[in-house]
Amino acid sequence: MPTFIVFLGPPGVGKGTQARILAERTGLPHISSGDLFREHLKNQTELGQIAQGYVNRGELVPDEVTIAMIRERLRQPDCQAGAILDGFPRTISQAQALDAMLTEFNAQVNLVPYLSAPESVLLERLSGRWTCRAQGHIYHEKNNPPKRPGICDFDGSELYQREDDKSETVLRRIRVYLEQTAPLIEHYRQRSLLVEIDGAQDIEQVTQTFLLALSHLS
Ligand code: AP5
Ligand code: MG
Repeated sequence: MPTFIVFLGPPGVGKGTQARILAERTGLPHISSGDLFREHLKNQTELGQIAQGYVNRGELVPDEVTIAMIRERLRQPDCQAGAILDGFPRTISQAQALDAMLTEFNAQVNLVPYLSAPESVLLERLSGRWTCRAQGHIYHEKNNPPKRPGICDFDGSELYQREDDKSETVLRRIRVYLEQTAPLIEHYRQRSLLVEIDGAQDIEQVTQTFLLALSHLS
């Protein structure tokens, strides 16, 4: 049976950081809807042009656009054994669409690690985040710095600060999360899929907590 893991949590809590670690350990692909949108923005595709305003304002891209993009990605052969989803679903209707897609593949959501942290922690993490231009590797200037400032340890590419990490946009992203995405916590809790994790712990402690949850799964 394929394994599908959905990372849930507010902006800056560490979904991308943990999803990447888990992908390396399991060999499952890491699918970040935010990374996919940023890739489309960079390449100025038609989808990128639709998404640009929403992403830069910190609002959600409309469901039908987002769902179509993820459906396309999940159809790729590397997802046959499952995937680690980061940033999708983010609304109840996206969650319903995901269930329908996975049913087509005789699969389902198996585990939902939900990371939470106080708003002050989220703000500190986002203001110090640096992202690799080539492949989206994630750093923090204090908590997880690159070996050489401004340069990715893995591929030597330039590090940049995301346009939507400006303080006023971050506050909007947190508000949008609370209004539109937080209802998914209850949605997955009712299905006994939710594993609540204290995202304010350091990176290694968070990893250990969800690896333990994952080991109970198999
Ligand atoms: P997206 O890219 O998904 O942004 P987000 O959910 O706001 O989450 P972030 O990527 O900001 O945070 P993260 O939890 O991944 O934290 P990270 O690991 O980087 O979405 C961007 C935009 O795309 C959305 O606003 C929307 O417009 C659009 N979009 C995406 N998906 C969509 C959808 N499904 N529907 C509609 N629109 C969608 O860590 C943050 C920082 O903290 C880093 O510096 C990291 O080094 C550091 N850090 C991480 N963990 C720790 C730790 N444990 N201790 C100390 N530091 C840590
Ligand atoms: Mg992320």
